[in-house]
Amino acid sequence: MADKKKITLKVLRFNPEKDAKPHYEAYQLEVASTDRVLDLLEAVKGYQDGTLTFRRSCAHGVCGSDAMRINGRNALACKVLVKDITSDTITVEPLMGLKIKKDLVVDMEPFFENFRSVLPYFINDNPPADGKEHRQSPEQRERFDDTTKCILCAACTTSCPSFWSNDAYVGPAAIVNAHRFVFDSRDEGAAERLNILNEQMGVWRCRTAFNCTEACPREIHITQAIAEVKQAILTGKLD
Ligand code: FES
Repeated sequence: MADKKKITLKVLRFNPEKDAKPHYEAYQLEVASTDRVLDLLEAVKGYQDGTLTFRRSCAHGVCGSDAMRINGRNALACKVLVKDITSDTITVEPLMGLKIKKDLVVDMEPFFENFRSVLPYFINDNPPADGKEHRQSPEQRERFDDTTKCILCAACTTSCPSFWSNDAYVGPAAIVNAHRFVFDSRDEGAAERLNILNEQMGVWRCRTAFNCTEACPREIHITQAIAEVKQAILTGKLD
């Protein structure tokens, strides 16, 4: 049986139908060290205030729907354990740079609009040479393996100072998803994607702050992926 301890969960609350601006509300909870921050939010919603609003689905770090700021850092609430937080107060806030819809739920549409703008899908209208499938060696598959791990949680993009200052910047997540196809040997849309990313709101707005890499719950080497896309634009090479 895990040890129990008392903690204060401070949540930034905002109901657009009642509140002029966001405010903090605090909840006292008795928690186990193995509880996740998502469990604490569920406990508040289930037993203290049913109006608390947040997104979650898989609860296992796969769907990407519960990204939020936990003690000032972007993370998935379902992956952060109480025992990994040293303070007895846990502060939970919505992601920065996207409009709050209610409590911890932000408007993800600008994020997905940027994602869609880089053509994040396989482009190749030519039939496979063997008439069955576009073949690829393990080494060719390895080239873009890291960026296939993105779950579109937005933790990277909403930790980026360039995105905070201008949400028209495509942001790290969109570049990661462009990278996934740009370096796929079977894909033929690289030139089109690189042209899009070479525009004013593309990769050159990245100032290499590394916030995105630190925020990624999938440990994708995002800053490196962005650098590789910049390099591909400058050299025209995809190796
Ligand atoms: S609820 Fe799916 S990633 Fe956390």
